[in-house]
Order: sequence, then C-alpha cells, then structure tokens
Amino acid sequence: MDHPEEFIRKRLEERKTQGTYRALKPEGRLIDFCSNDYLGFARSKVLKELIEKELGDKPAALNGSTGSRLLSGNTTYAEELEQQIAAFHKAEAGLIYNSGYDANVGLFSSLPQKGDTIIMDELAHASIIDGARLSFANRYNFRHNDLKSLEEKLQHAQGNCYVVIESVYSMNGDTPPMMEIAELTGKYQARLIVDEAHATGLYYNGLANRFGLENKVFARIVTFGKALGCHGAIILCSNLLREYLINFSRSFIYTTAAPFHQLASVKCAYDLLASSHNEIQKLKDNITLFKKNIGSKHNLLPSDSAIQCIVIGGNERTRQLAKQLQGAGFDIRPILSPTVPTGSERLRICLHSYNTTEEIAALAETLNKLSHG
Ligand SMILES: Cc1ncc(COP(=O)(O)O)c(C=O)c1O
Repeated sequence: MDHPEEFIRKRLEERKTQGTYRALKPEGRLIDFCSNDYLGFARSKVLKELIEKELGDKPAALNGSTGSRLLSGNTTYAEELEQQIAAFHKAEAGLIYNSGYDANVGLFSSLPQKGDTIIMDELAHASIIDGARLSFANRYNFRHNDLKSLEEKLQHAQGNCYVVIESVYSMNGDTPPMMEIAELTGKYQARLIVDEAHATGLYYNGLANRFGLENKVFARIVTFGKALGCHGAIILCSNLLREYLINFSRSFIYTTAAPFHQLASVKCAYDLLASSHNEIQKLKDNITLFKKNIGSKHNLLPSDSAIQCIVIGGNERTRQLAKQLQGAGFDIRPILSPTVPTGSERLRICLHSYNTTEEIAALAETLNKLSHG
C-alpha cells in the first residue's frame, strides 16, 4: 500500500501524463471569453456604487455574520432578501446558501431518502452528483435531453422520485425540452428540480418563469456568482420545503452564514438586473453575432445561451488550440475529459454583454484560421 505522500504524488503524476493536470493561474489581461460574468455585473461601476450606498445606509450591520443562520447568523435582512428574490422569480419562498455547490449538495443529500429515486440528466453538474451521492436514494442518469430515456427511468422509479435538470447546461450551453419534461414528470408524479445557474440573467428571472413552469417545478436553484456577478445561491421552493431544509440540510445548517456585505451585494445585483434590459439585449446580440461569424465549418454545439462550445476531440489537440487562442489574446479555456466524455473535448466560449463587435469578429476570424491550419 502506498503511503499518503506516495499516493498523492502518483495521482498528480497520472494527471500530468494523461494531460489532465490542473493548476491555478493568476488573473490575466486577455479578452474575456471565459468568465461567467455574462452581464458584466462583477465589473459594473453602477453595481459597485449601489453596494457602497447599501453598505453606507446600514452602518450598524456587522462585518461578519458571526455564526450559522440557526445560531447567531440570521438577520431580518437575510429573510427579507429571500422573500424579495423569491417574489422576483415568482416562487413562494427561498433559502439562501453560501454557494450553488452548497445549495445542490444540501438539497440532494437531505431530501431524497433510502428507497426514493433521483433521476438526473447525464450532464448534471458535479454539485448535483455530489449531493445525490450523499443521499441513500437510488440514482439514475437519463441520456442528455432525451425524453424517451427519461421515461424509461421514470417507469422503474421507486418511492418518491426527483427529476433533476439544468435549464442551461454548463458544459454544452443548451436547454432541455422543459415543457415536455415537466409534463412527463407530472405524469409519473415525480418532482421536477431545475438548476438555473446559467439561465438567470440572460433569460432574466430564468427559464422556469419563461415557460410558465413555476408551479410545476418542485424547487429551483439560482446562483448569484454568474450573471448576477456576486457569490452565493438560493433554493426557490415552497414554505414547506424551506422549513424542511432549515431542519435537515447540512450544508445550510453547519456553516457560517453569508455576511451582510455579501447579502447587500446580492440585493443590489437583483435591483440592477430589474433594470438591465439593455445589457441583456447586448448579450443576446453578441450571441447572435458570434454564431453568425463562426460559420458552419466548426462543430459548434447547438446553443442559444451565452455558453458556446466547439467540439475538437482529444485532450492534447483541444489544449493546443486553446493555447493558440490565448496566444492571440483571447481567454478561452479547453474543457477536457474526464470533465466531458472522451472524444467530445471542447473549447468553451462564454459571451458577455461587454464583448465588443470587434472582439467577437476577431475571435471568429482566428478560430476560422486555426481550424484550417
Ligand atoms: C449548473 C451549475 N450548478 C451549480 C453550480 C455551482 O454554483 P457556485 O459556483 O455558486 O457554487 C454551477 C457552477 O459551477 C453550475 O454550473
């Protein structure tokens, strides 16, 4: 048996030889086609000013929250913010978590019980998978966006059944047939849970709202670290489920609550989102422009969202292309296996409201040249 240090070294070496080694990089000066700051909120001076004003208006607020929400960390401000956000998304209630990762882990580890069933899309985010792994429920994947495959799993579900989808998939950028999935889950009396991490912002209050499904979804996860430019997340749900999570969701209970300045930032980001129709339109225009400029030579995955992926295939080739693009001034990251299935390694291009027409044209031109080189 290897000693811990030997084990650690071996695993890291394996990553290096497989070309899947990860390392932290300092922030760069490349053109941003990588971040989740879809609407530019993280860099918005307007948002910064709103936050400064909110902080200034509440001089008595503490720097830190001082404890878990169940001990000293709760505030009227946090509870009112939860109500405000729930109303914005047309939900009955909401419960804030310190991150989207925590929210998914806290929901899926506490709600489905032994004998119950969780059915998730095969491309579900790691936080959903990790939460489900912590539960004692039966777990199944259905083929990506495939209604037939979902129905097959539903037919074999036992106990209470929870179906989990994302309204925009983080590694593909595509959207599932949400109406049909809602109908199918209804037919089998399963409960539908939707992760809206990458849909909030571009689709304003999210796709469950866009499709009028707010009363058909059992819970939604909205994250604040992407288009809202902040940090944290909320689970939108019924008052009943909120009460349950407060009692049983360990990533909510056993952690220090978000401090006031984080909550204030989120509140201001929501206020800004309500008046950001121009930014949303700019983002939509940039998505259209990118797709138009990129032409048909690339293996571009179908997506109307801010996440556009070009499948290259092979870790080495994908990494090489990303490096060339970075060399040309564009911050584009390769998404390698095992994050995505072998053979579907890709360049993941995130578009933003603040990318200029010239930047998008230059990126498309570079991509077109590289693909012929
Ligand atoms: C679909 C999805 N859900 C949840 C998360 C986790 O959210 P957070 O970054 O707030 O932990 C992410 C982000 O990586 C995501 O893409």
